[in-house]
Amino acid sequence: MNVPTPKPWIMGIAPYIPGRSTTDDGRKVAKLSSNENPFGTSDAARAAFAAEATQLERYPDAAAADLRAAIGAHYGLDPARIIYGTGSDEVLHLAAGTFAGVGDEVIYVRYGFSVYDIAARRVGATPVVAPDRDYATDVDAILACVTDRTRIVYVANPNNPTGTYTTRAEIARLHAGLPADVLLVLDQAYTEYLDPEDDDGGLELARTTGNVLVTRTFSKIFGLASERVGWGYGAAEMIGAMHRIRAPFNFSTAAQKAAIAALGATDFVERSYRHNREWRGWFAGQIEALGNKGLRAVPSKANFQLVLFEGEARAETAYKALMDKGYIVRWLPGQGLPHGLRITIGTEDEIRGVAAALREIVGG
Ligand SMILES: Cc1ncc(COP(=O)(O)O)c(C=O)c1O
Repeated sequence: MNVPTPKPWIMGIAPYIPGRSTTDDGRKVAKLSSNENPFGTSDAARAAFAAEATQLERYPDAAAADLRAAIGAHYGLDPARIIYGTGSDEVLHLAAGTFAGVGDEVIYVRYGFSVYDIAARRVGATPVVAPDRDYATDVDAILACVTDRTRIVYVANPNNPTGTYTTRAEIARLHAGLPADVLLVLDQAYTEYLDPEDDDGGLELARTTGNVLVTRTFSKIFGLASERVGWGYGAAEMIGAMHRIRAPFNFSTAAQKAAIAALGATDFVERSYRHNREWRGWFAGQIEALGNKGLRAVPSKANFQLVLFEGEARAETAYKALMDKGYIVRWLPGQGLPHGLRITIGTEDEIRGVAAALREIVGG
């Protein structure tokens, strides 16, 4: 049978692998594989979503005007400079689709978020991988990769799957070292988990310069991963160009209303932040205590912990044994980390349970 020929750069894409929610034998167990909020979402967001069940025949507001106004008011931003997407994933793709193409180069760090590679290849651009510094973003390594073909640099802060954080000074240095016609995408999907003093200055750069796009999501601390609401902020001309290729009705009315309500549910966000801070620290301590078994916790500022297996105990064996014990975590061979497990900070019970299970598995 003859079939149309895909573009060669499309066939170079390794498909995105989502976190699993069931075990090999189909059991539904504690899911610590997708960095979701263990508390669910806020009551206000749930109620706003439910209230939209009566008008399913209507298209959503294509301009997402109320949501942009709410985001603008909440963060002190100009609503006219907000782009929005089916998750921040779409915003990341819109950046590549608008500013890169065949013959261009797109830089991201080794162990960066896997969507950057897909977004670059999708438009026929050449991905360029900058070396990391002990799993963290290395600004000098990124700057050394810049050529006159570079169009975009993607940096997640904190990064997924490493959880590592790049300081405000380093982000400023990166931006200062880039040519003005290179777009710096600062992906802040996990920014709400940072302590307030760790603001990386991304929104300020997006406000005041022409070549920075900050992306944010409602999928993580706001607990709306299922609704796929992400957004970005940058210079008006840049955002205007990106809107030209955005799908017209890229998320539902219920998603828009739920996101607006979620922004106002500050108690829920605060509780999620505090819980994550406490239990991430506790869990990292538990991993460090297994240092004699070769386990290492990469310093994380996100809602997950990357655990490295640098001794005899194997990450793959631990991944399977954890699944048997009722915990689905993320094993990362596809991201160059066959010796790594990424574990979401779940409820207290889940995180105590997964720590105890891991201790038992490695004989700690
Ligand atoms: C660093 C990073 N950026 C972006 C996303 C995309 O999130 P969403 O499309 O749900 O907004 C994720 C999701 O895991 C992520 O880890």
